Amino acid sequence: MKYWSFADDFGLENLVLKTGDMPKPGPRDVLLEMQAASLNYRDLVVMRGQHGKNIRPPLIPLSDGVGVVIETGPDVTGFEPGDRVSPAFYQHWHGGPPPLDLEAGRLGGPLDGVLATHRVFSAESLVSVPAQLSATEAATLPCAGVTAWSALSEPVPVRPGETVLILGSGGVALLALSLAKASGARTIMTTSSAERAENLRSLGADLVIDRSTTDNWAREVRNATGGEGCDRVLELGGAATLASSIKAVRNGGIIILIGNVTGNNADLFLPLLLTRKLTLQSVSVGSISGFCALNRALALHEIKPVIARTIPFVSAPDAFIALEAQEGFGNICIDSFQA
Ligand SMILES: NC(=O)c1ccc[n+]([C@@H]2O[C@H](COP(=O)([O-])OP(=O)(O)OC[C@H]3O[C@@H](n4cnc5c(N)ncnc54)[C@H](OP(=O)(O)O)[C@@H]3O)[C@@H](O)[C@H]2O)c1
Repeated sequence: MKYWSFADDFGLENLVLKTGDMPKPGPRDVLLEMQAASLNYRDLVVMRGQHGKNIRPPLIPLSDGVGVVIETGPDVTGFEPGDRVSPAFYQHWHGGPPPLDLEAGRLGGPLDGVLATHRVFSAESLVSVPAQLSATEAATLPCAGVTAWSALSEPVPVRPGETVLILGSGGVALLALSLAKASGARTIMTTSSAERAENLRSLGADLVIDRSTTDNWAREVRNATGGEGCDRVLELGGAATLASSIKAVRNGGIIILIGNVTGNNADLFLPLLLTRKLTLQSVSVGSISGFCALNRALALHEIKPVIARTIPFVSAPDAFIALEAQEGFGNICIDSFQA
């Protein structure tokens, strides 16, 4: 089998293609022949060595992938050779509140990820892939897809007629747009260019605000909601956007804290929050049961993730470069694992 590894250190120059022995499944494990993977913003942070001291080389990167079962351990029930499955982002979070040792169970750091031709996973951590999706489409689901699902389900699910504001046009944002539309919500999105705005409109966003032409998108959201503000914000921006998200949401509304692309340390004027009965709910991807619920919704509504570009396994470092350059619109994926 072949695998990419940050062998001695992080940094793209240290991502090397290696050859190893074929892994053997234990009694409750499954051996997968990997078919596709998808990159997330987090994979860039890991690649740069900025994800904290618990994630160390050697490491096989990437959390999100799809494979075909080629061998099962003797105690495995529910999967058989030929099944298409995805390993969950959090390998041991099955449902309910996150376990105390949540972070220890993450694929793509600290646990080895999916950028390998073959990998063994515990059968309990696997989820069947929706039949209507290609391998690359399905590969976007374990982190980006499940996060979008959690962001629209917690602490209460989005209801028809509500207005949801989604920041940016990354992997989480695009699937959240489709899911929010399927829930009957009105969607407002912010983005960074006229071209991206047009793409978002063509995917069904009801209102798109181009940040390159407006410096006060919170006011635009309020204007578009009769002065009240939106019901829910999917806060993917972080330090530089949180204050505006607070201004854009209605009294009693919900801000779902997800991302930090603009930084980690937000400076907040607390009276903005304290007088308005807001809910700030953080999301950390989601559980295996959330992953299954997401897949049912995708099948029912025939939702397909947006793929920007697919790069072959042998050229995997190019996928990190493409993500860093924010090339294209949609998820950057990797295929041809078995070529
Ligand atoms: N908490 C969790 O469980 C969880 C799970 C997944 C991801 N995340 C986090 O969510 C964020 C997005 O992840 P992703 O994988 O979807 O990223 P991605 O695919 O790399 O997309 C990032 C997007 O951020 C947007 N952006 C950049 N600057 C922005 C700004 N100033 N304001 C608003 N948006 C901005 C860009 O969209 P435009 O150019 O259209 O603005 C870009 O497409 C990251 O911080 C990631 O770590 C958190």
